[in-house]
Amino acid sequence: MNSRPIGVYDSGVGGLTVVREISSKLPWERVVYFGDTARVPYGEKTAEELLGFSREIIKFLIGQGSKYIIAACNTTSSQVLEYVKLEFDIPIIGVLRPGAYAASKATRTGRIGVMGTSGTIRSCAYEKAIKEYLAEGKVFSSACPQLVPLIEKGAINSEETIRALHDYIAPLMAEDIDVLVLGCTHYPYLIEHIKRITGPRVEIVDPARETVTVAAAALQELGLQSREKTGQHEFAVSGDPVLFTAVGSKLLGDNLAETRRVDLS
Ligand code: DGL
Repeated sequence: MNSRPIGVYDSGVGGLTVVREISSKLPWERVVYFGDTARVPYGEKTAEELLGFSREIIKFLIGQGSKYIIAACNTTSSQVLEYVKLEFDIPIIGVLRPGAYAASKATRTGRIGVMGTSGTIRSCAYEKAIKEYLAEGKVFSSACPQLVPLIEKGAINSEETIRALHDYIAPLMAEDIDVLVLGCTHYPYLIEHIKRITGPRVEIVDPARETVTVAAAALQELGLQSREKTGQHEFAVSGDPVLFTAVGSKLLGDNLAETRRVDLS
């Protein structure tokens, strides 16, 4: 029995899609969440910058008593996670490998589309990871830089968002994909619009799902799982806490607990 929280972080509201999955699959686990909203979006940041941000955030989450860390951010997972893991004693998992694994299992034709931030797509990390699981797989990628700023504003149903989605997904559909990976934790909020564009023949992979399955197995193996809920999730951000609570509550369709502002630097 270990009642300490799971530390989860992202650049903003995206990682809440992972928290939602934790609440549903592991309801007895408590989360301490950090959204780096003062520095969102991460998609255009350099690997050096991302490494510095992750170090600061992980130290904060460890200071909050975390027993296990989930980097609920594909941009970070694709570029710096392997380095960060070596620097800390605490177990850390990202969302990219579980997402790549889920995609390799879901495809029937081997033709897999990936949507992600510019940084994630530029790193080719999904392509490399998917090919480790499915050597003959063909990966088609689409960088979607407009989406995170729109989602951070809560603009999930705006014309601008839907138009951008059409533009980003059309080249992937032209490649006759049968699986589409939502390679950014912000994108599951747009899943209904995405499904309308791809139609029923394309399976949508949300890496958050596989990530929480992997985390659950790891917690059990490490003897770190909690057996009873000992408190509510806690939320902290580097930017505006009121905006985060408002947008997060709207996107999740649930009232988020009050958020506090924390200055990491
Ligand atoms: N939600 C993050 C990801 O999964 C970061 C997006 C961003 O800040 O650009 O990539």
